[in-house]
Amino acid sequence: MPRRGDSLETRWTRWPHTKAKHDLLVRYLGAWFPIMGRSVRKAIVLDAFAGPGRYDHGEEGSPILVLNALLEHKDFANWSNCEFVLLFNELDPERFESLEGVLGELRTANDPWPPNVRLLDPQNQSFEELGRQMLDSLKGNNMAPTFAFIDPFGYKGLPLDLVAELVSFPMCELFIYFDFNSINRFATANVVDKHFDRLFGTDEYRNAPPAGDPARQQFLHDLYERQLKQAANFAHVRSFAMVNDTGHIGNYMFFCTRNRRAFDLMKGAMWKIDPSGEYRFEDSLAGQDVLFEDENATGPLRDYLLEHYAGKTVPIQQLVDHVIDETPFHSSQVRRQTLAPMQREGLISATGQQRKCTYPEGVSVVFPD
Ligand SMILES: C[S@@+](CC[C@H](N)C(=O)[O-])C[C@H]1O[C@@H](n2cnc3c(N)ncnc32)[C@H](O)[C@@H]1O
Repeated sequence: MPRRGDSLETRWTRWPHTKAKHDLLVRYLGAWFPIMGRSVRKAIVLDAFAGPGRYDHGEEGSPILVLNALLEHKDFANWSNCEFVLLFNELDPERFESLEGVLGELRTANDPWPPNVRLLDPQNQSFEELGRQMLDSLKGNNMAPTFAFIDPFGYKGLPLDLVAELVSFPMCELFIYFDFNSINRFATANVVDKHFDRLFGTDEYRNAPPAGDPARQQFLHDLYERQLKQAANFAHVRSFAMVNDTGHIGNYMFFCTRNRRAFDLMKGAMWKIDPSGEYRFEDSLAGQDVLFEDENATGPLRDYLLEHYAGKTVPIQQLVDHVIDETPFHSSQVRRQTLAPMQREGLISATGQQRKCTYPEGVSVVFPD
């Protein structure tokens, strides 16, 4: 019998894809904390599968990264009107003990502790118990704006309905790891597994094409995306495939929000990740792969806009919103990196411009037939 649900040590070796995931987490929180700090009175970060706090060679785990993204932010001193509540949870007793130690060290290192940061006692329970307890404690009230980081091993103990309920409140966001490799191995037509029923919130995974079929991955991915969107009523759900050196997709991170600006920020964070790591992120647009490597490489966006808007005249804000909502690109890549060169090359024109190749409010972009 394994001591725990996985065969790893208390602190295990950090995999290359973990580094990529951490980079993205830190980048996004670097943008999310200032928005919360300036605009709300209370914001929560929930790290529901927090791990031991450090990896086997001392590399920082998500709890340290979250805390440092907040405490070391250059504008932190300006956010004294916002209370930041941080909650870390880990089921495994030995990892939990390690986590407690790591958080204790952080407290000591940051003495005097800032009064507006409430580091709750870490929890040592299953995500399901924790989630239920959090919801019960609300007693019908809304949860404060929350960033929920859900980073499991595998697919067990992660019911879609609970995830959805936890982040069903206004300004709650979800960043969740979809362990495609384990799901792929086990989710087949013959499997009757309550974990899958609960993970997907449906038994439709049984209709997935069989192992080896190239359509299988997309099917399982799309099913989870659809279920996340529907169950939690998220306006924006985007997945980022984690791809290794050989182009193999290992797993996905899903980011879910109801806020277009947050969605834009997450994609901005994605494009800023150093592409030289062993893992990188990938998405696709109208059948073209989009590698998050060079922010200036907006070729797929050009092609998409020309086709999508053929023969139309589109107000600039509508166009930018569409790019945020429907493509892997973010708003800062639209004007200078995409539209201006297209206009210089005569691929598009514009109405309402004071200066050529600039796109302030009031400008509309004219696409040829
Ligand atoms: C991928 S690791 C977390 C890594 C961590 N978030 C980081 O980035 O450093 C998943 C962790 O979840 C813990 N775990 C497994 N099942 C759990 C459950 N049902 N509820 C909470 N934690 C669980 C495991 O012991 C493991 O430490």
